[in-house]
Amino acid sequence: MSEVSDAEILAAFLRVDDAFVSGTAIAEDTGLSRVAIKGRLDRLREQGFDFEAVRNKGYRLETIPGYLHPSLLAAYLLEMNAPVNIHYFEETDSTNTQANRLLAEGEETPFVVIAGRQTAGRGRRGREWYSADAGNLYLSLALRPQLTPARMQRFTLWMGLATCLAIKEICNIELRLKWPNDLHWQGKKVAGMLTEARSDSEHLIELVFGIGLNVNGVTDEFPPEVRAVASSLREAAGGGAAGGFEINIIAAALMSRLVEATEAYLDGSYGDIFEQQWPQYDALVGKAVTIEQAEGEIAGQYAGIDASGRVLLRLDSGEIKAFSAGDVTIKKQ
Ligand code: BTN
Repeated sequence: MSEVSDAEILAAFLRVDDAFVSGTAIAEDTGLSRVAIKGRLDRLREQGFDFEAVRNKGYRLETIPGYLHPSLLAAYLLEMNAPVNIHYFEETDSTNTQANRLLAEGEETPFVVIAGRQTAGRGRRGREWYSADAGNLYLSLALRPQLTPARMQRFTLWMGLATCLAIKEICNIELRLKWPNDLHWQGKKVAGMLTEARSDSEHLIELVFGIGLNVNGVTDEFPPEVRAVASSLREAAGGGAAGGFEINIIAAALMSRLVEATEAYLDGSYGDIFEQQWPQYDALVGKAVTIEQAEGEIAGQYAGIDASGRVLLRLDSGEIKAFSAGDVTIKKQ
């Protein structure tokens, strides 16, 4: 990102919480002159920040923008000591598509593409992902991993679990994972994941993991076809019209966790955590479900997932059958 100094300036404020920071301290931290700092703060004021300035005390950060801001996001990452290579776009067609373009240009991995809005957000099975709301997160992590294509489906489940764990820690909200790519809160979809890969017959060459997370989105404003089945973190927290979550903190924490989760997946150290935690976050445990297949709907009792990430159903005949794709619907009890 180009705004490193702005991020460093903002990090100096984040470090002291609500306290004042002297111009000299910021100058020492960033290597900028005091005049340059004043200019930077004026520029940041135009972008939705506000700073109180008091003679002999310095500056105090009073207001931050209520939307995704690349320098603030980078400042949180600096404070978390989590270096992530970020490509930020105020608007793009799709962060997955953009990540694929950057991979094709040879960009070094891992990197994250994050956007304020998407004009052509993509979901699973060619569906559209509603992406007009700047209060939500749209991000993609790109990798060139040493994985066999067979291990890819469990990768998405693992990343979903890592997201649940991160959201629990940051927002104290317990989402549930609905195989294969949905994160739910009380039966409504709060996030969707889309993993796309380019591979040869043996290995993955490039992998893009995309996630759309409804953070502060107001679902009444979502398109009619998704309104009834969608929710957001803000709604899960009982939020009304005002306030909401600080999207930049959530973005920073989530992307650093996703990068860490990827490393654990690739070095094989994720296994125990997955086996232990998955059942706690699994939305389908104990449910009678149907799965949509080319030959029609198949009904059964959910029986977990197997080592390749396939969903297992116990059919009426008692046979356990594994499915690697298809939409699962929970039957009303
Ligand atoms: C689904 O539920 O069908 C998956 C939705 C995935 C949406 C995310 S938003 C960020 C990334 N860019 C996209 O175009 N899609 C994914």
